Amino acid sequence: MLVLGIETSCDETAAAVVRDGREIVSSVIASQIETHKRFGGVVPELASREHLDKIVPIVEEAFARADIRPREIDGIAVTAGPGLVGSLLVGVSYAKAMAFALRKPLVGVNHIEGHVYSVAFENPPVEYPALALVVSGGHSNLFFVPEPGKYKVIARTRDDAAGEAFDKVAKMLGLGYPGGPIIEKLAREGNPKAVKFSVPRMGDGSPDFSFSGLKTAVTKHVRESGLQPVSNGDQPSQAIKDLAASFQSVVVRSLVGTTERVARDCFPKTLIVAGGVACNGALREASRQAAERLGVPVYFPSPHLSTDNAAMIAAAGTVKLQAGERADFDLNADVTLRLQNVDNEEDALRKAKVRYRL
Ligand code: KG4
Ligand code: ZN
Repeated sequence: MLVLGIETSCDETAAAVVRDGREIVSSVIASQIETHKRFGGVVPELASREHLDKIVPIVEEAFARADIRPREIDGIAVTAGPGLVGSLLVGVSYAKAMAFALRKPLVGVNHIEGHVYSVAFENPPVEYPALALVVSGGHSNLFFVPEPGKYKVIARTRDDAAGEAFDKVAKMLGLGYPGGPIIEKLAREGNPKAVKFSVPRMGDGSPDFSFSGLKTAVTKHVRESGLQPVSNGDQPSQAIKDLAASFQSVVVRSLVGTTERVARDCFPKTLIVAGGVACNGALREASRQAAERLGVPVYFPSPHLSTDNAAMIAAAGTVKLQAGERADFDLNADVTLRLQNVDNEEDALRKAKVRYRL
């Protein structure tokens, strides 16, 4: 089955052709980083305008690189949410028009479910139940996945997403955008124990994440230690590198610590770590070590599949199309689309515990 995936939820215009949900025939991504970087974050109006300019050539390029004609595809999968409304609408409208013109089936895909499927191409098939940590600029969620397409949210962020925390701290230190890769690079030359930050924990015992307190702790440290943010072109000081390493280390401990604790309780057969922050080498290493302690495999997408792309949307969409799911032409962008659709919520975890404890 050949599926065209379209992704325009944030600041990447992307299209991909995927075979049977596991093989990337072509994948094209136009990043808008250059447009947004001088603002230190994504500007929604500029993003949607750029998607409009790029959607046609990007989809054409995906077909050209795949060396197939549009009518040869079996279906179209498009990100329907969550994301920026103006951006999502470009992809959704284009996909609907294309599905109508080509008379091909269409499905809407949740962007976060797309990230979960980003591990489909380079790893053995996922064994269920799985535990999926999706950490990006917009989301930090831990899902229990009892079977394909069913998700129970175990933990979410109460405030900033993990990637957003990287971006905000980098901005505060004058390091540029997006912050994740820059902080990771500096952290390699810093001491993660130099600044003592405590791992954020919820007072009510919930496994939820929270990163805004950490951001405040970084601000306080900068103020109290008289640290100078990096100004244009300057080499970052050792103190900045130490701060980057200490910040990264606490974010990683929070994400991996929670994942491991939850895994000890729900016995997943596979761990999945996906989303833009999954590019982070320290997060990968800590996840690998946790998986080893748990005795389960951990799957990551390679970096070009960790950040937003359309191949992951096509892979998630393939499963839906194969199950007979179809979107109508009234498919709309849903900015707050939720991924929480375990049929019997309270039962899912309990069943898993009973079934897999033995
Ligand atoms: O998945 P993604 O491309 O977009 C969203 O769906 O949000 O994720 C982008 C986020 C940004 O916040 C970026 O700073 C973060 O992923 N990121 C990283 C790294 N590479 C990208 N965070 C930490 N370490 C990295 N190496
Ligand atoms: Zn994303």
